[in-house]
Amino acid sequence: MTELELLREAFDLQESLVSMRRMFHQNPELSFQERVTSSEVAAELKRIGSWSVRTEVGGFGVVAELTGAGGGRTVALRADMDALPIAEETGLPYASVRPNVMHACGHDAHTAMLLGAARLIARRRAELEGTVRLLFQSAEEINEGAKAMIAERALDRVDEIYGLHNDPLLPAGRFALRSGSMMGSVDRIEMTVEGKGGHGAIPDASVDPVVAAASIVMGLQTAVSREISPFEPAVVTIGSLQAGEAGNVIPSRARLTGTVRTFSPEVRRSMPERLERLVRKQAEAFRCRAELRYIEQVPVLSNDQACCRAAWNVLTRLAGEANLEEARPTMAGEDFSVYLQAVPGCFVWVGSGSSDGGEAYGLHHPKYTIDERCLPYGAAYFAAIAMERTRPGG
Ligand code: NI
Repeated sequence: MTELELLREAFDLQESLVSMRRMFHQNPELSFQERVTSSEVAAELKRIGSWSVRTEVGGFGVVAELTGAGGGRTVALRADMDALPIAEETGLPYASVRPNVMHACGHDAHTAMLLGAARLIARRRAELEGTVRLLFQSAEEINEGAKAMIAERALDRVDEIYGLHNDPLLPAGRFALRSGSMMGSVDRIEMTVEGKGGHGAIPDASVDPVVAAASIVMGLQTAVSREISPFEPAVVTIGSLQAGEAGNVIPSRARLTGTVRTFSPEVRRSMPERLERLVRKQAEAFRCRAELRYIEQVPVLSNDQACCRAAWNVLTRLAGEANLEEARPTMAGEDFSVYLQAVPGCFVWVGSGSSDGGEAYGLHHPKYTIDERCLPYGAAYFAAIAMERTRPGG
């Protein structure tokens, strides 16, 4: 087998990859509601044959497995299936038929790519030396799907795992990856500030949680700027602040929510104490009481060095070294990181942008689109890395 043969075969599947992707695109489903998508996935795997299929794993996840000859290793490949609560504005003929639900992150493309790989791998069953396990996952967008898959033993006996995400700002045919930390950890914070409500004209008879909340927002800016090394990236964003209904009333309570991103496990571990202190003491300074709930969602996405090297080598043969680049780190999160805490693996960016110079919209934008030439590239990469890494001692 050569990677170029796989790529050629994947391009021969282009028409079916595009039609599957458009079908998923037109019928997007939110996290943990991927009922139709997963039944289409299971039906396609059945049409391909060879794969043993388990459905409703960790929500509507589908796990498929194929074992070749020889005592090779077990390699998992993962695609996510869920869409976002966004009203699509692409105007495409196959745009979402569901109001306010859109595949604006390209998980429709990831699902089609992995189904394409399922077909390519099944054709090479005789050459396959180990076991390939396909994970079609629910609920990536709410950071819950990977955990649910692992809880239902989807990673048992897996030696390595590989995943990908499309990048509309990278032209189709190009790939980006990096060893070590590539995407940030994602945690959620929720704060309640309790004061004492009253007349807006008589502040001395009240305890104003709005002023305390405002001070908390400002105080939290020092968590990163004053307490963490400038060489360690971190973000604290307060995205919502709710208090009061009327301009002349001091409310009794304010609520804030935010997101915390870090790029190393050590910095992440240091965040709860720091934020808790800044929030509680700021509130106390204004005679309020504040509570912070720190909700851990997904860890830093960290690619294993050996797996990353293997992916780089496979991609060099598949797409040519001129089409590979070192990925820029991003604080966006991805729950693939949860798998990488359990087993080594590598996550790569697959270019899905067009090279015609037209305007490109980023992930989660209502006008986000992909260049569908990315589909055979993703399918061929998935198949190639699995064939390569299932080899004994691979
Ligand atoms: Ni995504």
